[in-house]
Amino acid sequence: ASHGRGRRGLLGFKAVPAGTADKVTVPDGYTADVLIPWGTPLHSRGPQWKKDASNTAAEQAQQIGMNHDGMHFFPLRGGHEGLLVLNHEYVDQALLFPDGDAVMTKEKVDKALAAHGVSVVKVAQVKGRWQRVDSRYNRRVTGSTPVTFSGPVHAAHPALQARNRPMGTLNNCSSGATPWGTYLACEENWNSYFGTTDTSWKPSPELARYGVNAAGGGYKWHTADSRFDLAVNPNETNRFGWVVEIDPFNPHHTPVKRTALGRVKHESATVTESRGRVVVYTGDDQDGEYVYKFVGSAPWRQLRALGKSPLDHGTLYVAKFNDDGSGTWLPLTFGTGPLTKANGWKDQADVLLRTRQAADAVGATKLDRPEWVAVHPGNKDVYLTLTNGSGWDNKANPRKPNPYGHIIRWREKHGDNTATSFEWDIFLLAGDPAYDPKVTLAPEDVFGSPDGLGFDPGGRLWIETDVSNSSQNLASKGYDNIGNNQMLAADPRTGEVRRFLVGPRGCEITGFTMTPDGRTLFVNVQHPGEATTAWGTPTPADPRAVSNWPDFDPAGRPRSATLVIRKKDGGVIGT
Ligand code: FEO
Ligand code: CA
Ligand code: CA
Ligand code: CA
Repeated sequence: ASHGRGRRGLLGFKAVPAGTADKVTVPDGYTADVLIPWGTPLHSRGPQWKKDASNTAAEQAQQIGMNHDGMHFFPLRGGHEGLLVLNHEYVDQALLFPDGDAVMTKEKVDKALAAHGVSVVKVAQVKGRWQRVDSRYNRRVTGSTPVTFSGPVHAAHPALQARNRPMGTLNNCSSGATPWGTYLACEENWNSYFGTTDTSWKPSPELARYGVNAAGGGYKWHTADSRFDLAVNPNETNRFGWVVEIDPFNPHHTPVKRTALGRVKHESATVTESRGRVVVYTGDDQDGEYVYKFVGSAPWRQLRALGKSPLDHGTLYVAKFNDDGSGTWLPLTFGTGPLTKANGWKDQADVLLRTRQAADAVGATKLDRPEWVAVHPGNKDVYLTLTNGSGWDNKANPRKPNPYGHIIRWREKHGDNTATSFEWDIFLLAGDPAYDPKVTLAPEDVFGSPDGLGFDPGGRLWIETDVSNSSQNLASKGYDNIGNNQMLAADPRTGEVRRFLVGPRGCEITGFTMTPDGRTLFVNVQHPGEATTAWGTPTPADPRAVSNWPDFDPAGRPRSATLVIRKKDGGVIGT
């Protein structure tokens, strides 16, 4: 195999050092500008951001949401302008309300819902700088926007009937984009929004498998809005855990939850195509969960010509990684293998509503928190971040425990992404060789907890990290040389890794999209100032004490935002 010997390396920038400063650092010769922080009005005449967080729910619904995550740039006019579509994963209620969330009210729940979801904003280069511009396309999809369902768990399915009409998308972590110009928003930790004070309520095995419980995940919405009360409105949970398709070029489009892609805590929905068919890879981000792929039943153009969605017709598979480096995609198809009536499965809708249990039944391989998937633009190899985890008894998770994470990759049989078998290897182990001699990263390029992942058109693999509070027990040792969360680039031919960006304190770096010419890179800074002990920063009572990025206003608060990264000479990013 060629390892690029004699060829020029893909990475042309000077590495930036690890750091703990409350700022964004990019290599010499690059700029990083802040775009659309939380609270930015969608339209120039819209409600202005109030730094004391006193904007109402109705105002928030006309502003950029909180906690930017997955993102895609849809070019217009040759890519000098376009629609930037991005997720708002969750809300930090201590920052969202002037008086915090000790007491929840319906207005507060409505504001929290309005700060979730997706933003569609037109951006354009104005006098050489990317800016938000007014457009009829600018819109928000929130936790309250009317939605519909398609695929085997269709809108009229009994499991989807509830007190309120179907609305909203929540915990939109990573994302994807289709070849027909739509955006896919994933629903990740949707279980955390539900709860009940009814002590007679007990979770079904299906809900327990998704982590739904009476206490909820801390949002307390059920105390002020019966929509989220498990005992009062039980079917509302069935409306979450899906991949949601949004048409950014139709501001009146009703988002569609594409149920054939399964119901898990979806991380990315990475789309590629092979033999004309659509292939969608998606991780289920929880320790010990699985990675999935959906393969269309026919070429996507053919299905669309018949008025059918390519995301409604196909087969959902889950991955089995064998210790000998081979792998198999196991179909989650009603009537196949153990998924039969005799074993208690009713139909394909039942399989999809209980995707995790179906994957358990077929014998899928447990992984250390499967997050983003990226497909190499040339050879179609598939790369998956396993952010960190407890380690499982298989070679796909070679450390036990695994506080730093790794990147696994596979080549589908004959390079055909629709294939049902593959060969895999470990692309790299993250971490610090000072703590784990198996790590081959250079000491100046150490990192941990890879999460975001994407290829640029030139074949550079971009890695974004999320050492988060939820992983701090795992990460409490061995992160002291790693600093704030960051972004790195890797050359997949040589395995070389180089640090490209370091974020402000307490943030994660996420979201990855470029203009088609590769000369503008958009990434997101999520939750700057999140109180963290992972790398020795004391946990303050007030998370704002850690970071006040990007405004640095003592009376303000940290805000998630998009970064626009350019090379000062206008060149291709990474070269
Ligand atoms: Fe929302 Fe799995 O990160
Ligand atoms: Ca993530
Ligand atoms: Ca993460
Ligand atoms: Ca996050």
